[in-house]
Amino acid sequence: MQFSIKTGAPEKQRSACLVVGVFEPRTLSAPAAALDGAAGGLLTRILERGDMDGRAGSTLLLLDVPGTPAERVLLLGLGKEAEFGDKAYREAVANVMRAMRDTGAADALVTLTALSAGKRDLRWRVRQAAMVAQDALFRADQLKSKKDERQPALASIAFAVDVAGDAPAAEDALAQGQAIASGMALTKELANLPANICTPTYLGEQALQLARAHKLKCEVLDREAMEKLGMGSLLSVARGSHQPPRFIVLQYKGGKAKDKPVVLVGKGITFDTGGISIKPAAEMDEMKYDMSGAASVLGTFKACALMGLPLNVVGISPTTENMPDGSASRPGDIVTSMSGQTIEILNTDAEGRLILCDALTYAERFNPDCVVDIATLTGACVIALGHVATGLLANDDALAEELAAGGQQAWDRAWRMPLWDDYQEQLKSNFADMANIGGRPAGTVTAACFLSRFTGKYRWAHLDIAGTAWRSGKEKGATGRPVPLLTHFLLGRAKRL
Ligand code: BES
Ligand code: MN
Ligand code: ZN
Repeated sequence: MQFSIKTGAPEKQRSACLVVGVFEPRTLSAPAAALDGAAGGLLTRILERGDMDGRAGSTLLLLDVPGTPAERVLLLGLGKEAEFGDKAYREAVANVMRAMRDTGAADALVTLTALSAGKRDLRWRVRQAAMVAQDALFRADQLKSKKDERQPALASIAFAVDVAGDAPAAEDALAQGQAIASGMALTKELANLPANICTPTYLGEQALQLARAHKLKCEVLDREAMEKLGMGSLLSVARGSHQPPRFIVLQYKGGKAKDKPVVLVGKGITFDTGGISIKPAAEMDEMKYDMSGAASVLGTFKACALMGLPLNVVGISPTTENMPDGSASRPGDIVTSMSGQTIEILNTDAEGRLILCDALTYAERFNPDCVVDIATLTGACVIALGHVATGLLANDDALAEELAAGGQQAWDRAWRMPLWDDYQEQLKSNFADMANIGGRPAGTVTAACFLSRFTGKYRWAHLDIAGTAWRSGKEKGATGRPVPLLTHFLLGRAKRL
């Protein structure tokens, strides 16, 4: 899809489809009113006859409207103007994409970006429009032998900006939105791949390929290298799998040499059977998404590189499968992490923290400004926050606020949970420095408490994306989250929002 910015009166532009909004009840938005003037009151008459009342999501396609060179006009219901906030705006853009699928128009001029309703500025509106539009176009058809035959005709979309002087800012925001959307698409493609294709080796190759395409530094460590580093916790998870583990280290150097990096650590379990503490059969296929943290690190790196952010970022993804096997870890086994701390594995299904802890220790060598780990870590997080908010836990208030703000900006929101010492008791082990589970109460918090024992040397935050990285049911598939949150967090740091 080609995206562009267009200034000047929308009703005077040549396009295959001019999209204008109507608020409820029967109120023309400013671009619609301008078109109505040029068309001799045609839109007013349509509203009066009751053929479009502005209800959110309703559409009406008009052909050969007088007074405009546009071949078609799509009237789009936006709901009540007073309620036209972030959510309604994003839904309106998605509704445009849905309605355009059923038209023969090859290009469109969308005037939603020119609406000043809501509290957001033009840059936000344009960035979001590009992200939402591209997201709506995503098809999970990589592995279908026949692609969808009914390819939509739509090949390019222009977003209207009414003040010509705003065009450069809008172009810049458009490029950001597209970069973030490409990062999300990469994350979704990788996360949707089944575990027989998307193995640790495959993820390592994808990282190397991304590095080649965008001049990033990339190292992929094998089992032997991990043994030398003493990553006993990570390797204990890999023991049950015939797939060799990989430890991916990516470096994006857009900042000055002395700038401390942001380190992103992504959980990369390519399939989580639970190991010897095996999971029930129902919906186990969804555990192919257990590498979504690692996939979101790759997606974020792609977006960073496309945007050329003036920051240093390191991405670390420990990747392995969690399988039951004759050599898999047993409940009760005790392993030694890279940090030297010993861990009693009381449940082999709490494997995410076992691979992350060694990656968090490895992160120390980069002298990080801060470390953010991203993981589909606990089912408890889905119970606590559902599929709306990502769980956010941190040992630093400023970092937590910065990430939450990034999520707000991106409309990819996270909600903070406590990381109080009181919860640490639940991880007590009679035989090792800690147990890898803390019982049923506060499962998301105790998982983060476990990780906190490996993050004493830097500012750190943890994102639990178990509920937000993918959708179940009929719409099953990866969401690309939290790439928007992470990229907005980085954009904020780079003062590019
Ligand atoms: N990958 C799962 C977490 C998960 C579960 C994500 C369901 C999405 C949906 C993780 O490795 C896991 O199995 N966690 C256990 C931890 C428990 C054994 C302490 C869980 O949440 O049940
Ligand atoms: Mn598990
Ligand atoms: Zn897992």
